[in-house]
Amino acid sequence: MKPQNSALVPAIVQILSIGDANAELVFSQLEKIPRIGREAVVPRVKLQAAGSAANFALCTANLGIKTGFAGRLAVDQFGEVVLKAFREAEVDTHCLRLVEDSSTGITVAMVREDGKRAFVTYPGTSAQLSQNELKACISKDPPPRWVHLAGSHLMDSLRGEPTASILELARSRGATTSLDTGWDPSDWSEETIEAIKTTLQFVDIFFPNANEVKALTGERSPRKGAKILLDAGAPTLVVKLGSKGCLLATKRDQHLVPGFKVKVVDTTAAGDAFDAGFAISMLSGATMGRAAVFANAVAALRISRRPHKPLFPTLQEANAFLMRKRPLEA
Ligand SMILES: Nc1ncnc2c1ncn2[C@@H]1O[C@H](COP(=O)(O)OP(=O)(O)OP(=O)(O)O)[C@@H](O)[C@H]1O
Ligand SMILES: [Mg+2]
Repeated sequence: MKPQNSALVPAIVQILSIGDANAELVFSQLEKIPRIGREAVVPRVKLQAAGSAANFALCTANLGIKTGFAGRLAVDQFGEVVLKAFREAEVDTHCLRLVEDSSTGITVAMVREDGKRAFVTYPGTSAQLSQNELKACISKDPPPRWVHLAGSHLMDSLRGEPTASILELARSRGATTSLDTGWDPSDWSEETIEAIKTTLQFVDIFFPNANEVKALTGERSPRKGAKILLDAGAPTLVVKLGSKGCLLATKRDQHLVPGFKVKVVDTTAAGDAFDAGFAISMLSGATMGRAAVFANAVAALRISRRPHKPLFPTLQEANAFLMRKRPLEA
């Protein structure tokens, strides 16, 4: 048995990331995504931890804030890939459930030379997450200051009411709540859209991208779509706009926060890195405007990183980037 020191103070989890975790096989520098019956050869392949919620946790932990992850992995080789990444980033795994009789999910990501990509995902054990295990985790003392839920479309068991109820509990414990549903691989049925809209009243910060706003509202203009989602109950929307940066929208006003010009290497996890940057900046006391600039910087660093470097930047790297770079003009 390990010696115990009763004077040890556990590091307090500031951010809890809830949702999907899986391994990801990334084929990068593809000239084009192959047609059926064709084969493409790439110079590089990587097996790494992924899943929107896992990425968020890894990024906030890398940026230096104590982060916990609540979700599921199976005891298998892909689960080990994610566990190793959590260990290296010092993500707290007290709320991570390891299951024997299932498989860890896996994504195959095909990334073109211009950084654009396509994915195929097997959600694995993340699809079986239960609201009770997540609520038990949020109920632990001391409560987290921020609860982020991501990867909703891969977790059928949490669709709609369970998600609303988890976020409501997090809020009642004093946490700021955020949600990033991601793109719906089943193409946005009316039930899905309604389910998301009903959760918005419990979400402090909603992080869709422009395509997701269009899918949810039918509005091509992010500004008009944001207004509809604000009316549905989310007090703040941060709409991610790729190279253009993001749109910060509240009932009072909306403004574009331009991104940074960088050489794109691989855009996987850009959105998750953005969410992570935004959350830790807000937790450090920044205004939403400044948090949006920091989030754009963290995402820009993520997508311009050389493949041999860790996926997410450190706080020093993010601050150094902000010292030397100016955002593009709006
Ligand atoms: N080409 C780019 N140049 C500079 N910054 C970028 C670029 N693409 C993305 N970003 C940054 O990354 C953020 C998130 O990217 P994006 O808008 O693609 O979100 P997303 O679609 O949610 O991403 P994901 O598919 O990873 O979930 C943007 O708001 C921006 O800050
Ligand atoms: Mg996204």
